[in-house]
Amino acid sequence: MEKIYMDNAATTPVDKEVAKAMQPYFSEKFGNASSLHLWGREAKMALDIARAKIAKFIGAKEEEIIFTSGGTESNNLTIKGLAFSSPRGSHIITSKIEHHAITEPCEWLEKQGYKVTYLDVDQYGMVNPKDVEKAITEKTILVSIMHANNEIGTIEPIAEIGKICKKHNILFHTDAVQSFGKVPINVKKMNIDLLSTSAHKIYGPKGVGFLYIRKGIKLTPVAHGGGHEQGIRSGTENVAGIVGFAKAVELAKKRMLFDNLHLKKLQKKLIEGISKIENAKLNGHPTQRLANNVHFSFSGIEGESLVVLLDMAGIGASTGSACTTKSLKPSHVLTACGLSAEIAHSSLRLTLGRENTPEQINYVLKKIPEVVANLRKISPLK
Ligand SMILES: Cc1ncc(COP(=O)(O)O)c(C=O)c1O
Repeated sequence: MEKIYMDNAATTPVDKEVAKAMQPYFSEKFGNASSLHLWGREAKMALDIARAKIAKFIGAKEEEIIFTSGGTESNNLTIKGLAFSSPRGSHIITSKIEHHAITEPCEWLEKQGYKVTYLDVDQYGMVNPKDVEKAITEKTILVSIMHANNEIGTIEPIAEIGKICKKHNILFHTDAVQSFGKVPINVKKMNIDLLSTSAHKIYGPKGVGFLYIRKGIKLTPVAHGGGHEQGIRSGTENVAGIVGFAKAVELAKKRMLFDNLHLKKLQKKLIEGISKIENAKLNGHPTQRLANNVHFSFSGIEGESLVVLLDMAGIGASTGSACTTKSLKPSHVLTACGLSAEIAHSSLRLTLGRENTPEQINYVLKKIPEVVANLRKISPLK
């Protein structure tokens, strides 16, 4: 049985070229980038080259890139680091559909005496920039709105939100973990002050990412130690991971146009095919969405059962965000879009990647209607 992976929003395979670029940095060029000797200088040079490549890709300066362990750490560093640099009672604006790596630190800060506004979204998961402006108070220190949603793929109007924040002199952060490398980003043109990314969503290794911090922004470190990464993120740099991340960025830059054309074709075919199933509802924005995201609800069935049966048919899919599938609560993203708990529980996310083919889509389009029909036959929810 062919195995078809369609959960690329959870993670992607490491590209062979990325693995090859990383290889020498494990046992051969293994130095600590802080050491003064040859081995250290070699590692430092690799870091410098990677940083320059990545900075250029988003229109930033090299010193504005702080390497981290990924999206979760970059988000925590932003939310907590900026809050700790401001008095208790300071105010943060975010949305109801952010990843838990934003909502959880925000909720934790509320317990420490900070104020947080969680903005509503429309039925497509879109934040209205006017709502951002209306929520600003004299205590607001930060607006954090994600670039693209990890469950439904909706792309938020972040350039517009960035403009509003700039007008009011408030910092703007975006969680770009799902969009980075897939959608063009220029931090200066889009008025982004801080931006979180992760390598494993773009064919790079797990456990590495960066936080872009515009020059001049003061942020209290979360991890104190040896003063690495300008003292903002202590801890010996993951040189092999960072080299791999830079290679993944280089490939993403080269392939972005081609990948998006390929993915859009597959996405269209998949959406058209699944839409033919009775009572199948497309979630997320019809046009303003990532080219790799397909998200549907099928009334009367359990998303989890659907994922298990698709797995048995060789198809790797998800009910929502990989990080929340262990929870029995309905997705906070889907309920924020107005879906009932029951419909939210009946959801399926397919996220496409470079390696998917039209033949695989044909197979998936044959299997999903079969599985949905079988589950509906035995469903007590019917
Ligand atoms: C939007 C978003 N933010 C943050 C994260 C967390 O990233 P990481 O796995 O690198 O910690 C994810 C991971 O799924 C994500 O989709």
